[in-house]
Amino acid sequence: MDMIVTEDLCKTFPGRSGRGGPVEAVKHVNLRVKQGEIFGFLGPNGAGKTTTMRMLTTLLPPSGGKARVVGYDLAREAGKIRQKIGYVSQKGGCYDLATGYENLVLQGRLYGLSKAAAVKKADELVRVLHLEEYCHRKVKTYSGGQRRHIDLGMGVMHDPALLFLDEPTTGLDPTSRANFWDEIRRLCERGITVFLTTHYLDEADSLCDTICIMDHGTVAAQGTVLELKRQVAGDIITIGMAPDAFGRAEALLRPRADVKELRRADGLLKLYVEAGEKALPEILPLLVEENIAVTTVEMTRVSLDEVFLKMTGRSLLDEDRKEAAV
Ligand SMILES: Nc1ncnc2c1ncn2[C@@H]1O[C@H](COP(=O)(O)OP(=O)(O)OP(=O)(O)O)[C@@H](O)[C@H]1O
Ligand SMILES: [Mg+2]
Repeated sequence: MDMIVTEDLCKTFPGRSGRGGPVEAVKHVNLRVKQGEIFGFLGPNGAGKTTTMRMLTTLLPPSGGKARVVGYDLAREAGKIRQKIGYVSQKGGCYDLATGYENLVLQGRLYGLSKAAAVKKADELVRVLHLEEYCHRKVKTYSGGQRRHIDLGMGVMHDPALLFLDEPTTGLDPTSRANFWDEIRRLCERGITVFLTTHYLDEADSLCDTICIMDHGTVAAQGTVLELKRQVAGDIITIGMAPDAFGRAEALLRPRADVKELRRADGLLKLYVEAGEKALPEILPLLVEENIAVTTVEMTRVSLDEVFLKMTGRSLLDEDRKEAAV
């Protein structure tokens, strides 16, 4: 089953007099999110990620297009959608003066759970999300990572089928981010579909099944991480060998259909291939048969930033660095 399907989803914010024209934040976006997957929504600042998420969570009416979320129509069945989804906003939503545990119970009560059911669920989440150490302290004393964990807990108190997370790991240190990923994976194993935005390409790469890259309100690319990378160049196999062997190796490998490009660089032979894991076991025996002594072999995957660069002409890393410099 598809958890989210959108058709030409649009959002235009009206301009204010004297302060510029209308802003077309989201333009004809078509998304498909499958049940049980972690779907990553990427793109530079202002690309339209939060706006799309706010529409899909029923918080903002679309200006055009259609969407089905958890099987319900966004325009006509917003109430049913709200029962089935969780949303953790970019800013989070804990009460500072209550403890993390109290925040969880309160959230459960807001979703209509009885006191006993809310306490039972909060106890379960304390165990699942490893909140024991700090959940009985006031939230105002928490570190950024601890807050994000409580936010995550609040998002799943009512057992949603689909969880929206807007930049869940922004500002966390690498260890806290890795812990957070583990928690998200664990939730996913329990059957929750996760839709998240992130600026971290390594995060999207290792965590997400499917990725959508947004740029200027439109979808620049959508697919599995592997599919997107293969659209760009696939994998790079770098082979070291004696200098007098390069000519023979090139003559042997250049005619292969799976070798898109072949280059000599820094005394190494670089092969750009579609699927490295298939090409490498075929290529190595060919070289051995030709009596070419291979000294080193390395296979690297094209990074998501190269995908973004190819699709949009800009690097997402540059955008991040700009943001970091502000
Ligand atoms: N309420 C609003 N009124 C007018 N313009 C808005 C409003 N909300 C968002 N926008 C504009 O819509 C565009 C998309 O914003 P959005 O918040 O969706 O981007 P984003 O991809 O989430 O960016 P970021 O990575 O910085 O969070 C931006 O140009 C933003 O200024
Ligand atoms: Mg945003």
